[in-house]
Amino acid sequence: MALAGILGTGVALPEKVITNADLEKLVDTSDQWITERTGIKERRQAGSNETTSSLSIEAARKALDMAGLTPLQLDLIICSTISPDMPLPSTAAFIQRGLGAPACCAFDLAAACSGFLFGMTVAEQFIRTGKAKYVLVVGAELLSRYLDFRDRATCVIFGDGVAAAVLGPASGPSGILASEMHTDGAFADHLCIPAGGSARPASCETVTNREHYIKMRGNELFKVAVRSLEDVSRRVLGEAKVCTDQLNLFIPHQANQRITDAVRQRLGVSPEKVYSNIARVGNTSSASIPICLDECLRSGRIKKGDLVLMSAFGAGVTWGAVLMRY
Ligand code: ACO
Repeated sequence: MALAGILGTGVALPEKVITNADLEKLVDTSDQWITERTGIKERRQAGSNETTSSLSIEAARKALDMAGLTPLQLDLIICSTISPDMPLPSTAAFIQRGLGAPACCAFDLAAACSGFLFGMTVAEQFIRTGKAKYVLVVGAELLSRYLDFRDRATCVIFGDGVAAAVLGPASGPSGILASEMHTDGAFADHLCIPAGGSARPASCETVTNREHYIKMRGNELFKVAVRSLEDVSRRVLGEAKVCTDQLNLFIPHQANQRITDAVRQRLGVSPEKVYSNIARVGNTSSASIPICLDECLRSGRIKKGDLVLMSAFGAGVTWGAVLMRY
């Protein structure tokens, strides 16, 4: 049975760029602090005419184009997002409608920054069992809509962006060789949006208290992130009997350049084999890995036959990894 592989990718980034200098005017921060502590220089911010689904549709069309497929050939759409158009219905339903893919099933998946890899893993199961042939996985975030631009601990980190990938039966030896997904709800309060859900429905009080914005205990998450990313990366490499020397490229979730550097060192991957675009786009949560993938595929950084490791960590907390041969 053929493995599931990536047939096409596409990105949609908002045009508006927010630099560290722009944020210096909003909160008590500095370009130096942001650069040294995160590696971020700028990020994108969606305009009022853009939505999570509108950018997703744009990215999906590019991915379908690269794959040489039409929306009508899709069997399933999985949209990974924690910044949906609205709580109900799913953003995936809007993507399905916008693409014109009426025959396929579509649903959202909420695993924060690990969501795209969770989506790839779910898609892989459908493809390998023959239940679906072509699956669109979208990593889509407009986190600026959920950021408190008075909170310097979060507003400097996150950016908006969307990327999509079409998965289907791979040819030859290529495809997903190993994947893992994990969750530990013990850390659920470390990164959350406290209000606006059933636990704390929207009210004047929750709005006044700014409880509809992302709250993060960044320092505590940092340590868990490094440990989890190293562990899950080793696990998928072990499962596929691949050693780090054999890797052509490591794409970690772009959470913080210091996290990437620490994980790279622990794994013993040489610096030139690690992809990073956090300086240009910040932390785009579930869009982070597919944006990197698209940039690497379109620039020729990933070539046919390359072994690519992707690892992610996010709110929940969740973490996961996918090892694939392109
Ligand atoms: N500018 C200037 N100073 C700041 C800023 C800022 N933007 N933000 C925080 N500080 C200050 C703090 O107030 C603190 O000051 P104090 O020592 O006087 O109290 C000091 O800087 C150090 O704060 P820390 O939080 O310890 O800084 P740290 O080095 O840990 O960096 C960061 C913070 C960048 C958030 C880091 O902890 C991080 O990247 N954590 C991981 C985040 C993560 O992985 N999240 C999960 C994935 S995202 C998702 O799922 C959506």
